[in-house]
Amino acid sequence: ANGIRVFDPAFLNTAAISSKITFIDGDKGFLMHRGYPIEQLAEKSDFLETAYLLIYGELPSKSQSEIWKFEVMHHTEIADDLAKVIGSMRYGLPPPPVPSAYDSHPMSVFISAFAAMGAFAPEANPALQGRNLYIQDKAIMNKNIIRIIGKSATVAAASMRVRMNRPFIAPRSDMSFAENMLYMMDATSDAENYKPDPRLAEALETLFILHADHEMNCSTATMTHVGSSLVDPYSAVAAAAAALYGPLHGGANEAVIRMIERIGTVDKVPAFLSAVKAKKELLFGFGHRVYRNTDPRSKIIRQVAETVFAACGHEPLIEVATALKDAALADPWFVEKKLYPNVDYWSGLIYRSLGFPLDFFPVLFAVPRVAGWLAHWKQAIEAPNPKIWRPRQIYVGEKVRDYVPVEERE
Ligand code: SDX
Repeated sequence: ANGIRVFDPAFLNTAAISSKITFIDGDKGFLMHRGYPIEQLAEKSDFLETAYLLIYGELPSKSQSEIWKFEVMHHTEIADDLAKVIGSMRYGLPPPPVPSAYDSHPMSVFISAFAAMGAFAPEANPALQGRNLYIQDKAIMNKNIIRIIGKSATVAAASMRVRMNRPFIAPRSDMSFAENMLYMMDATSDAENYKPDPRLAEALETLFILHADHEMNCSTATMTHVGSSLVDPYSAVAAAAAALYGPLHGGANEAVIRMIERIGTVDKVPAFLSAVKAKKELLFGFGHRVYRNTDPRSKIIRQVAETVFAACGHEPLIEVATALKDAALADPWFVEKKLYPNVDYWSGLIYRSLGFPLDFFPVLFAVPRVAGWLAHWKQAIEAPNPKIWRPRQIYVGEKVRDYVPVEERE
């Protein structure tokens, strides 16, 4: 076209990034990690075991699992300097905490914390030290992977405590990953005797497994893209978390609840769907770039919801959410566009029932997705000849032309 070289679309398809980590069949609504279907992992695994599988390629043996879990649960502390950075983020006015324009969204806190960790990381940016640490030193790479997973829950809990205007609670290593996260967010004064509700900890473990990885989504592509410049992985995680924060991606679980609250009652559903069809509204929690059939995770999450609602009491928004889903699935406009519930449609209702504040929901997506980001980052860094990501564009701008002095311009 106008004398420029245009890639053959077939070439672009073959230029996809190959990976051994996750496979999605969008037409069949199928998802597997390292060969294991998501349904089996959700039912039989736990989050740290799934994280190990994603990152190292195999389910750990008993001893590998014990060492891995011990290492991660003993690298959950955050340094005082980092706690000061997180504690400096404002939320609400001095007690009683009143939401204000300066409230630090918990996702902003999460992003800032990992960017700060990049500053405090024991191994500063290897490239600035003139060496590529992550190819030469696997021990350091694995230590950073353990630190990032371990600290993700602590940073998340700290972002919640900032929001509550309450002091941070130090992590405990004698609990599961999900139990410890609930503990750090919720422990009351008699913290020593605090034990999270096992049903809620179990529900959170399942949700973390379902959110751990999803092939080359926007935030994982960001992690792999930024990581390809050989920056430290903490800074790359901060970039990936920023991508996840958006309402078209991980921020959708928060946006779904805001949407359902705005609809308010079942009788308002038809008017809302008309606004969506008129392109005046977006049906958050529906649609997906890859799934042209239902998202297999949303089916599993819908079952988890029943368990949580039974434990925490009825969730009043479930009626509107169900009516909205049923009406959209019965409407030819949505069926033709292949729009089905995705992973974010039901998760927000569960988090709401668990008592998490609305703006904390994307953080509950970010914590487990750290495992998927690290898996793809490690796979790229360990590739035989790691290349920096530098996509090309098809230029459709002006032809070559000469500069015109300002006096001669109209
Ligand atoms: C996640 O990539 C991943 O794997 C992401 C994720 C993961 O685990 O990492 O699965 C997590 O991010 C799930 C998605 C969460 N986002 C939302 O729920 C936001 C609402 N969804 C839409 O913004 C949208 O569906 C996207 C962003 C998810 C996908 O966007 P696409 O690829 O542009 O959608 P499409 O090409 O399938 O759209 C086809 C048509 C378009 O209209 P036309 O141009 O044909 O007129 O459907 C429309 C779109 O405008 N459309 C929607 C819609 N989703 C698509 N219209 C209304 N509401 C929607 N939700």
